[in-house]
Amino acid sequence: MSVHYGMSEQTTLMRDKFAGSLIHLLEEQIDTGLNLATRIQNAIRRQIIVGALKRKDRLPSSRTLAAELGIARDTVEAAYQHLESEGFLTRLHGSGTFVTETGSDFLRDHGPRTRRRNVEIETGNRGRIALNLGGVRDPVTRAFSAAMPDLRAFPSSTWNRIASRIMREQAACVLNYSDPQGLRDLREEIARYLAAHRGVRCNADNVVVLTSSQQALAMISSLLLDPGDVVAVEDPGYPGVKAALKMAGADLLPVPVDGEGLRVDVLSRRRGPIRGVYVTPSHQYPTGVTLGFDRRVALIEWARSNKAWIIEDDYDSEYRYEGAPISCIQGLDPSGAILYVGTFTKTLFPGVRIAYLVAPSYLVKTFVTARTLVDGHSAYLNQAVLAEFMSGGHFTAHVRRMRELYKGRRDAFLEAFDRHLSPFASFDVANGGFQITCDVRNGVGEAESIRAAAQLGIELPSLRSLYLARPQRSGWVMGYVGLAPQEAEAAMRKLARSLGSGSQSRRRV
Ligand SMILES: Cc1ncc(COP(=O)(O)O)c(C=O)c1O
Repeated sequence: MSVHYGMSEQTTLMRDKFAGSLIHLLEEQIDTGLNLATRIQNAIRRQIIVGALKRKDRLPSSRTLAAELGIARDTVEAAYQHLESEGFLTRLHGSGTFVTETGSDFLRDHGPRTRRRNVEIETGNRGRIALNLGGVRDPVTRAFSAAMPDLRAFPSSTWNRIASRIMREQAACVLNYSDPQGLRDLREEIARYLAAHRGVRCNADNVVVLTSSQQALAMISSLLLDPGDVVAVEDPGYPGVKAALKMAGADLLPVPVDGEGLRVDVLSRRRGPIRGVYVTPSHQYPTGVTLGFDRRVALIEWARSNKAWIIEDDYDSEYRYEGAPISCIQGLDPSGAILYVGTFTKTLFPGVRIAYLVAPSYLVKTFVTARTLVDGHSAYLNQAVLAEFMSGGHFTAHVRRMRELYKGRRDAFLEAFDRHLSPFASFDVANGGFQITCDVRNGVGEAESIRAAAQLGIELPSLRSLYLARPQRSGWVMGYVGLAPQEAEAAMRKLARSLGSGSQSRRRV
């Protein structure tokens, strides 16, 4: 039966068809957990938006529709009233319920039948820079992803036990906002740890708890620099800092690295104002070399006379396999030019999302205020768990255990490398950290070997891509600590087979 719900022929609705299409749209929402009135609203709104219901179309009365759908009239009433309050329907006493003009105007301009070009509104310059920088991190860990700790070795049960107790005893704090500088207890633990193990001069008031070193580098870049400021970076060097600096509009000045770390003599000879320098002095990323003592002193002198910042990234120095960990340069400099950055990504697990910045006292307020504006603060729960994990001695015990484990893995990895990959690449000796740098050889190309590995599901991060200036080494930065020796060896065997067949076909050509 065909029934006229509207004022003209154009506005005729087939009642059965209307109820039928509603039933279909209601069924589609069954798994949403929404109540029936909301599902009816959504279904009718959808009909209007896709143009199935048109301007001035009259809807069945709530009584009729309820009867057809076999539901209570109040439910349909509630849906109609809500759509009226949103402006999609109008209800005229004695005449019925109609699709509004506004709804139809919206449809005329935006509806699916309107021929219109999609508008892509231009982003700001920083959006374009971010997009060009690329490098969205793939969360899947593969052999030989750089810089991944072994997550299976983490004492999760201890962590969970502390977390459960904190949830029980401090639920009000866990659920609430908390200190933007970071939990006092955690800052005290971090300050104590850094003084005892890294030679950092600070107290809890200098520590700002953040989510990652990357956040620290991004905040340092945006708060302490202006677009066009020049910042020196190690070459080769960590891509994370280059991205943060570029996002802030800084100009990067590559300074070469040799067997003793950053060439401070080269930096000192550069003319023109340089606002800061980024260094990984304990364990240079990616080469693994340590900045020599004379260079540390020279760097501090240079920073003082140039009124420049030193950004010290101490990302993995706990993992030094021969000899005691090297202390940081922050402890050598009383002048307040050093921003010391550290992270729990490597010592605990990346998902913990806790890192820290140790800032000179006069800068702390700037960072804490900015943190409040950016994202408030880090979540209370993990901070509180970590504070107890540290005060209970679990953190230092875990680092000690991991150092032994990773040292064994390093040795096994290098032996397996010799067995399988030595025809294709040679490695630098790795005295610490999570990865080794390798130079490809015997005609193996960096790009082609990385592509071949990717086809096997193996990640071989590029060494060349970490350089800004020439000459550049071609090779790989291979992460080894996250893999059990047999996993590493199996991946190397596969890789060697693939590279071997590649070199044979190269020879045949
Ligand atoms: C030099 C350096 N700094 C910092 C980090 C990472 O720190 P986060 O995960 O806390 O951003 C890495 C990770 O690979 C790194 O290599």
